[in-house]
Amino acid sequence: MNVRPAASVGDPVERIDTPALVINLDAMQRNLAAMAGFARDHGLALRPHAKMHKSAVLARLQIAAGAVGVCVQKLSEAEALGAAGVTDIYISNEIVDAGKLQRLAALAGRIQLALAVDSVLGVERLAHALHAAGTMADVLVEVDVGQGRCGVAPAAAGALAHQVVAHGLRFAGLQAYHGRAQHLRSAGAREAAIEHAVTLVRAAQAGITSAGMRCPLVTGGGTGSFVFEAVSGVYGELQCGSYLFMDRDYADNEPAFEGPRFEHALFVKSQVMSRGASHAVVDAGHKAHAIDSGLPRVWQPHGRGALEFGNGGDEHGILRPGAHASAADLPQLGQTVWLVPGHCDPTVNLHAHYIAVRGGLAHGVVEAVWPIDARGCLA
Ligand SMILES: Cc1ncc(COP(=O)(O)O)c(C=O)c1O
Repeated sequence: MNVRPAASVGDPVERIDTPALVINLDAMQRNLAAMAGFARDHGLALRPHAKMHKSAVLARLQIAAGAVGVCVQKLSEAEALGAAGVTDIYISNEIVDAGKLQRLAALAGRIQLALAVDSVLGVERLAHALHAAGTMADVLVEVDVGQGRCGVAPAAAGALAHQVVAHGLRFAGLQAYHGRAQHLRSAGAREAAIEHAVTLVRAAQAGITSAGMRCPLVTGGGTGSFVFEAVSGVYGELQCGSYLFMDRDYADNEPAFEGPRFEHALFVKSQVMSRGASHAVVDAGHKAHAIDSGLPRVWQPHGRGALEFGNGGDEHGILRPGAHASAADLPQLGQTVWLVPGHCDPTVNLHAHYIAVRGGLAHGVVEAVWPIDARGCLA
């Protein structure tokens, strides 16, 4: 069944049905420009992570602002964005399934495509699929720089890069993303984690050089750490994603000492549907916002008494007055409550559309309704 969008172009904000996933376009475009400017000023390529927004429109806006292309994590995301007109996509993740690699090889005939590898089996199967299809993709060797997830040890990077070339594939560089560093709250802790990652990247580069090859690129970095990768002198490309929307979890980080600051640009619009003496209930629960990184924050830009969002289950959220507020600060029945999601990526995946608002959340107007093209693309 087609999901009915929560609003139409031209609607005033108050007419957006709830719950709805709303972009504050003015804030988002400031975030977009700030990151593009930062990459440009540091002489780095920017390849934003589209796993975050899953939207071809947003990918194209990022590319128009200077990004070289986008990253995704899943083949089906690449297929969805490719079908919607995005022409340069890097799957910054491993694929070893032969059926998926056949699909990848077909996609590589239509767009500029790249893939990460961390095993000889992965290289062999990728080569088999690409050669059979007569297509080509860039291949990046993933190095584990501290996440303890995918990636080879730095000492093994040279041998795997050699395998890439020996199988007739294009070795395009190193994938070096440190996911665990992103939400270390102190900027100093994130800086130290990336300094360590850079040491590991240098070791991997040395292995590639001694295998007689050149390492054309090191790519990685996220919203929590990009400032540190940028000044490292080894990274040539940044993969940040969440900066565009800036979720609550990232706002809880101590900002880096330097670099751009980002604004919240993604909200769940909710509405008070029930009211008690000391609490109010809104119509957005776990099905409207992800909870893996904690609950949403109630958006109170003018610092009205802090309202706290409590778990009300799948379809409800419970608002209570925070330490510096009273029941008098609770919103009334029918009143709009804007929520800042704890984590943007899985929140986006819950929704079918973005409602993009121009002119602010108080008096703005719906400028666009965009499908979330790669929603549900998990494979
Ligand atoms: C491989 C990779 N690169 C980049 C990012 C971007 O991170 P963020 O959205 O935190 O900026 C992610 C996010 O999980 C990732 O998995």
